[in-house]
Amino acid sequence: MSARELWSHPKLVIAIVGALLALGCNPPAPAPPPGPQSGALPPRIIPLPASLSLASGPPFKLTKETRVALVGANPEVAAIGETLAALLRRATDFPIPVSASSDGSGSGSVELRLVSDPASLGEDGYRLTVTSDSVRLVAGTPAGLFRGIQTIRQLLPADIESEIGVERGDWAMPALTIVDRPRFAWRGSMLDPARHFLTVKEVEQYIDLMALYKLNVLHLHLSDDQGWRIQINSRPKLTAVGSLSQVGGGPGGFYTQQDYQDIVRYAQARYITIVPEIEMPGHSRAATTAYPEVACTSTFCVDKEDTYALLDDVVREISALTPGTYIHIGGDEVEGLTPEQYARFVERAQTIVNKYGKLMIGWEEIAKAHIKPTTIVQQWKSDSVTAALQYGSKIILSPSDKAYLDMKYTATTELGLTWAALIEVNTAYNWDPAVYMPGVTEQNVVGIEAPIWGETVRNITAVEFQAMPRLAALAEVAWTPQTSREWQGFRSRLAAQAPRWHYLGVNYYRSPLIPW
Ligand code: ACM
Repeated sequence: MSARELWSHPKLVIAIVGALLALGCNPPAPAPPPGPQSGALPPRIIPLPASLSLASGPPFKLTKETRVALVGANPEVAAIGETLAALLRRATDFPIPVSASSDGSGSGSVELRLVSDPASLGEDGYRLTVTSDSVRLVAGTPAGLFRGIQTIRQLLPADIESEIGVERGDWAMPALTIVDRPRFAWRGSMLDPARHFLTVKEVEQYIDLMALYKLNVLHLHLSDDQGWRIQINSRPKLTAVGSLSQVGGGPGGFYTQQDYQDIVRYAQARYITIVPEIEMPGHSRAATTAYPEVACTSTFCVDKEDTYALLDDVVREISALTPGTYIHIGGDEVEGLTPEQYARFVERAQTIVNKYGKLMIGWEEIAKAHIKPTTIVQQWKSDSVTAALQYGSKIILSPSDKAYLDMKYTATTELGLTWAALIEVNTAYNWDPAVYMPGVTEQNVVGIEAPIWGETVRNITAVEFQAMPRLAALAEVAWTPQTSREWQGFRSRLAAQAPRWHYLGVNYYRSPLIPW
């Protein structure tokens, strides 16, 4: 068989690549059970849609004649249509033109339609109807169309992710109807460039991965003891002094304001909101080294006006660069302050954040202060989070024994820490945010977030190893109705993602629990 012929049998190529990977990098995985072929029924989508009905008819096939038709288009929808077309062109080499269409786009088209009366689809919801004749994607918001495109992607064979042309007998999507919307509005992850700096390109690679699984918030931990990572024009020493270090003594780095705006825009185009975090009053040694006049024992000096002047400058500049609603002020693991000092500090920080038109988020310790109902409390260990409920505040769940992606998978996996738990992919998957904490119900929870603290992850390859496959598991926890989720089905759908990650160059942990 020539290389060309080999390439025309992509499943064989995948099998060979998979076998090489299994031999080279990982312990042999158990033999997979016989599963449906990629593109055949049932579709293996993550996160599992809220409702999916297979139709009995023949599939829709992409061909040289397929086009993307925009109905009721505006420039934002046109950009989404172009994103879809670019994705479809890459592996198929089909021209896939994009055109505005009057109602009824006709045979052979993939139609994107924004409707003003989306019924029950909500912010991120969509309806997708696939017949042999056409694909119709309907949503009430551009974000909903973008999420729907991720479903289209996953309904197509994994080869669609190839950077270069792949010859296949067909590019089929099963006939079906999906009506989908997320369980939780907040489906987040967090990166920690403060501990090991990550380049703009690396952050963008992570955003791409989040987008594939319909996540919508990226929280950036932009300062800590080991480094300050964002340019503040009115306080130049924060980066001139505070950015020059990282865990292990590396050179550090920082994002210029232009870099940060590039990240924000890249995320926006994928309907992902950036939440910047500046740690205060603890975890602040990089800042207090740069401006020693605000340094008290192990925190910012909470009784000095100089401190609030500095924080006002920082929050003002970051707020101006951040289109999202929220600024995260950290607030965790503070030592050396009285409870009264801590509470007064958090309340001042809240006033500053609100002054610049933003709402505050803090780690769960902030619930020890008097917070507003609009302030969000991010749970991580559950000592103090229920205090938030008396203020009417909502909670983001980031339980360190389920969702901290910097924890090791097993005692022998290379990267990560162990202080909270070992988190295999089933541990990340098998929990229900509505009953995780006594006294905290579904109505109290805006959603979940999966942080990857950076102490042991030096670059995007390491980040990906910690994230995948657990990020996909947590994306489903956040999106899919609890009653539809079950581990055995998830295992099979997760296994089907691996060929996509191979094409996308995404590193991952080949968990022995998954029939890869
Ligand atoms: C934390 O892990 N200290 C929020």
